[in-house]
Amino acid sequence: MATETQIRHFDPTEVHRFARDVLVGNGVEAEQAEIVAKCLIAADLRGIDTHGVNRIPSYMERIRQGVLDAKAVPTIIQTTPVVAQIDGHNGFGFLAASLGIERGIQMAKEFGIGMVAVKHSNHFGMSAWICQRAIDHDMMSLVFTNSSPAMPVWGGRSKLLGVSPLACGAPAGESRPFILDMAPSIAARGKIYKAKRRGERIPADWALDGEGFPTDDPAKALEGVMLPMGGPKGSALAIMMDVFSGVLSGSAFAGNVTGPYDPSKAADVGHFLVVIKPDLFMLLEEFKDRMDYLYQRVVDSERRPDFDRIYFPGEIEQITEERRKKEGIPYAAGEVETLNKEAEKVGVTLLTARSSE
Ligand SMILES: NC(=O)c1ccc[n+]([C@@H]2O[C@H](COP(=O)([O-])OP(=O)(O)OC[C@H]3O[C@@H](n4cnc5c(N)ncnc54)[C@H](O)[C@@H]3O)[C@@H](O)[C@H]2O)c1
Repeated sequence: MATETQIRHFDPTEVHRFARDVLVGNGVEAEQAEIVAKCLIAADLRGIDTHGVNRIPSYMERIRQGVLDAKAVPTIIQTTPVVAQIDGHNGFGFLAASLGIERGIQMAKEFGIGMVAVKHSNHFGMSAWICQRAIDHDMMSLVFTNSSPAMPVWGGRSKLLGVSPLACGAPAGESRPFILDMAPSIAARGKIYKAKRRGERIPADWALDGEGFPTDDPAKALEGVMLPMGGPKGSALAIMMDVFSGVLSGSAFAGNVTGPYDPSKAADVGHFLVVIKPDLFMLLEEFKDRMDYLYQRVVDSERRPDFDRIYFPGEIEQITEERRKKEGIPYAAGEVETLNKEAEKVGVTLLTARSSE
């Protein structure tokens, strides 16, 4: 008899099939469902379990409540040769960001740089998939988004700022590429949802409860506020995400983005993407050699006695991805049960673990 927390492994192709089928079952066009499924599986492969297929039930709930448009296709306006603006029309953030990064790459290939602002969008999950898309084309990127209020500003006690991730990527030669993808809170809010789902405690410095006291109970933390990393610095980074993704883009800002678990109205998330061609000032090979040198200097630097290994930003996730591609993606039995309820609702084949398990 499986317990709620028992872990089983699933083939990435089976998870992709499941995600696509559930999306199509909820009215998403097949071509778009492929894009969304690919982004969700990318998060699970990289070990960002908080932003993978476990988000499907909340996204589907938003479609059922009529606050996320399953059929929406983002539109684009070319503002200048190097600037584009996207309207997500309240469709999946994955689709608007996907169109945005593709256009950004196109502009950067031609003009050296491409800047894209996205308005009226939704949650796009893990930012790193967007950086990776640029890296696949030998491009550098900056990826910003805003999000619903979850943190107080420095000195405040009620939620105003989103735990909005700041991400950035750069290709390398022989070594692993650079991918920084970080939320400005001590921990991403999704990690608290995951701990709650799995019946685990959280470190006491992640969040305050509804009364303003530190807590290790994920349910109580979700009633309170997330704490910014580095006090005023984390708070300022979250405001920076709002300046570029909200104020500049024309989307909601200043605490007015609707949360992914609040089905009362459209989210109106904004994003901001910049793509840069790395061979503007030297040959691409030279840039990559220099990235390889930087990588080596970082990982070979003299270690603290309590550290076994030094990693480059993004490296832990890339190692996880290589392992999960072989071993499969682990999900807890309770998570699979919740996912399969979505499959039952639209009459598609249930998510099935590897036959060896
Ligand atoms: N779309 C949204 O609204 C939203 C909101 C919050 C978080 N997120 C996503 O949640 C994910 C998790 O964010 P997070 O801040 O918890 O990430 P994290 O703290 O696990 O990692 C942050 C960064 O630090 C690097 N890192 C971590 N440990 C390292 C080590 N030991 N050595 C070297 N580098 C290391 C990682 O590679 C990563 O680039 C991200 O993918 C983010 O995009 C999305």
